[in-house]
Amino acid sequence: MSLYNRLVMQSSLIKKYIMALTGIVLVGFVFVHMAGNLQVLLGQEAINAYAHALQNLPAPILWGSRLFLLVCVVAHAVTAYQLIKENRAARPQSNEVEITKRAGWSSLRMGLTGSLMLAFIVFHLLHFTIRTIYPEYNDLKTTVGSPDGSEIHDVYSMILAGFRIDAISVFYVFCMFLLCRHLAHGVSSMFQSLGLRSESWRCKLDFAASAYGWIIFIGFSIIPVLVLAQKYGLVNCLDTCGSSCSVNL
Ligand code: HEM
Repeated sequence: MSLYNRLVMQSSLIKKYIMALTGIVLVGFVFVHMAGNLQVLLGQEAINAYAHALQNLPAPILWGSRLFLLVCVVAHAVTAYQLIKENRAARPQSNEVEITKRAGWSSLRMGLTGSLMLAFIVFHLLHFTIRTIYPEYNDLKTTVGSPDGSEIHDVYSMILAGFRIDAISVFYVFCMFLLCRHLAHGVSSMFQSLGLRSESWRCKLDFAASAYGWIIFIGFSIIPVLVLAQKYGLVNCLDTCGSSCSVNL
């Protein structure tokens, strides 16, 4: 093998490691974020206290972890783009049908679902973190969940207000489905890139990756689905918190 070919192979191996390692971080973040969000089901006090504690972490920890997450997202996306380009260049004659058979829907659509997730994350940050889409969410304040009785941001009411809007909830559930499909393929390839997926384990790992994708889908989607279901009188399981809630369902 020529030196050039060896270097190309090594560089694409490094890229696969970068994809897998940044993927592990993102998979972990998504799970922790989902578990944290599920505290909405416990009521206003639980989720407000949790969000307040996170927002008030010491600045180096808060901003260090945000920066680390951002670096992982950027590295994951840029490396994916480079790998897709390299794969295309290596198979100039392959036709769509042949690729589809070999790689499957998920694999072919990783670039697409990944790009849409990137767009979702930008929207989501503007919606719930930076709050430029609905600036009035900045005015939602309460003492419920505050550790010292002072006014804090009412994250619970913000989530209710956010998902009361039908189009927003449908959009979130659609994006969670894309995330589910992205994870189902991504988690399985992660094991392969790290050399941890033998042929005998392939089926089990594919199943575990798919199950993980669906757990994430259900765990995130349950919140917008329940908010809408309660809005339309189908269920009555979310805390309506009387006068302490800035938004009523
Ligand atoms: C129904 C689904 C989701 C809900 C209800 C939700 C809720 C929230 C809320 C309330 C915040 C702001 C926390 C605060 O500033 O107090 C937030 C921040 C964030 N969310 Fe989500 N989220 C959802 C799905 C997702 C998904 C699928 C991702 C990633 C793929 C994601 C990534 C983030 C990130 C990166 C932040 C910023 C964290 C920070 O401030 O450092 N979220 N989310």
